[in-house]
Amino acid sequence: MAIRLGVVGYGNRINGVIRHNLRAVDPEVAVVAVVDPDEAGVRRRLAESDQAAVFYPDLDTMMRQARLDGLAIGTRCNLHAPYAIQAAAYDVPLYLEKPVAIDMEQAVALEQAFADSRCPVVVSFPLRVSPLCVLAREYIAAGRTGPPVHVAATNYVPYGTVYWEAPYRDWQITRGLFLQKATHDLDYLMYLMDEPIVRVAATRTVGRVFGGTRPSGLRCSACPDQDTCPESPRNRTRHGTSGRRTDHPCLFSVDCGSAAANTLNEDCSSIMLEFASGAHGVYTQVFFARRDAATRGATVSGYEGAVTFDWYTNQLRYVRHHAPFTGTERAGEGASHFGGDTELAHDFIGLIRGGGASRTPIQTGLRSVYACLAAQESAEAVRFVAVRQLGAGG
Ligand SMILES: NC(=O)c1ccc[n+]([C@@H]2O[C@H](COP(=O)([O-])OP(=O)(O)OC[C@H]3O[C@@H](n4cnc5c(N)ncnc54)[C@H](O)[C@@H]3O)[C@@H](O)[C@H]2O)c1
Repeated sequence: MAIRLGVVGYGNRINGVIRHNLRAVDPEVAVVAVVDPDEAGVRRRLAESDQAAVFYPDLDTMMRQARLDGLAIGTRCNLHAPYAIQAAAYDVPLYLEKPVAIDMEQAVALEQAFADSRCPVVVSFPLRVSPLCVLAREYIAAGRTGPPVHVAATNYVPYGTVYWEAPYRDWQITRGLFLQKATHDLDYLMYLMDEPIVRVAATRTVGRVFGGTRPSGLRCSACPDQDTCPESPRNRTRHGTSGRRTDHPCLFSVDCGSAAANTLNEDCSSIMLEFASGAHGVYTQVFFARRDAATRGATVSGYEGAVTFDWYTNQLRYVRHHAPFTGTERAGEGASHFGGDTELAHDFIGLIRGGGASRTPIQTGLRSVYACLAAQESAEAVRFVAVRQLGAGG
């Protein structure tokens, strides 16, 4: 039987999730209802078979009239919480994009809305459910490291220019790269360590690489420096680097925001993490990395051994601390978000068809947002900040 899916914010990301992941798991997924002010844009993205989808003015009208089996929220970041709060009033399984909130007010309201809700949620955290991360967790849960005492995690993002040349540079929508990017990593680190982050100290470097004083509205095609700028489409193509290879907004323009006004995405940022048991770790993210500098993963250590994995090399290494053995396991290739998007799709379809459970319920999204907001506050105030915990009240 067809799955009647409603979508709020039918943009690029959710379009990809529906086409490549949900339908790969269950070809019966049909988009029948949409809330999105840009109907023409949505129609360009919608599959031929979904062109009969009805557009609704708001979520409540859609939920009352469209008889949905599942709901997906794929708007940009600032609207995830307001729409999810409305969705909490219905029991329909929800696929919710990350970050689940962009400020404390939104996050607390979201937690309250779901306190008594029966709406099951899959938060879009592909890293946590990716097979490589699950394998690392299995090593740790089996006692191969001993109780984990330390974690060191890195994220050298080879596609980071998107945070200065695409709408992600709009601070009012994104609110910086702890919320935009680290939300994934802090989530999977809590999963690996099997405990919450309780305190953080963070720092960030802003305006040393991207952002700048170039005029508002500047695009490469009108720029006198396109022959020499490494970010011009011509030079990106010539040097084989990442980023759009068509005309795009300048990454060094005032439109990127201002470091002084705290409206500019950071070039890189780092967080010292304290976990509930007293274990600690570090996470660091670098957005100007390119090409073979890409790396994302972690080393988790305990007295007995260390587990290291990297999603770019797609392998896990286990070192026994007290025996002369080291082993490597290699993962399969080619899946989006390292196989995590397909795993999320299995969870969501499982909720809809019955018998499945979400491995990324709303609590995972909230815990991660609370940790990211603490990191943001810490970087601004230059001090350790306690992370708000679920159920804290007030
Ligand atoms: N989980 C992941 O790994 C992952 C990967 C990429 C992007 N994302 C997240 O996906 C989100 C969307 O990114 P995108 O690139 O698809 O953006 P997008 O701009 O392509 O899509 C957003 C859509 O929301 C619509 N919209 C705008 N205002 C609206 C409103 N008031 N009500 C309903 N719809 C509205 C827009 O018209 C557009 O169709 C971002 O928050 C991003 O963080 C997550």
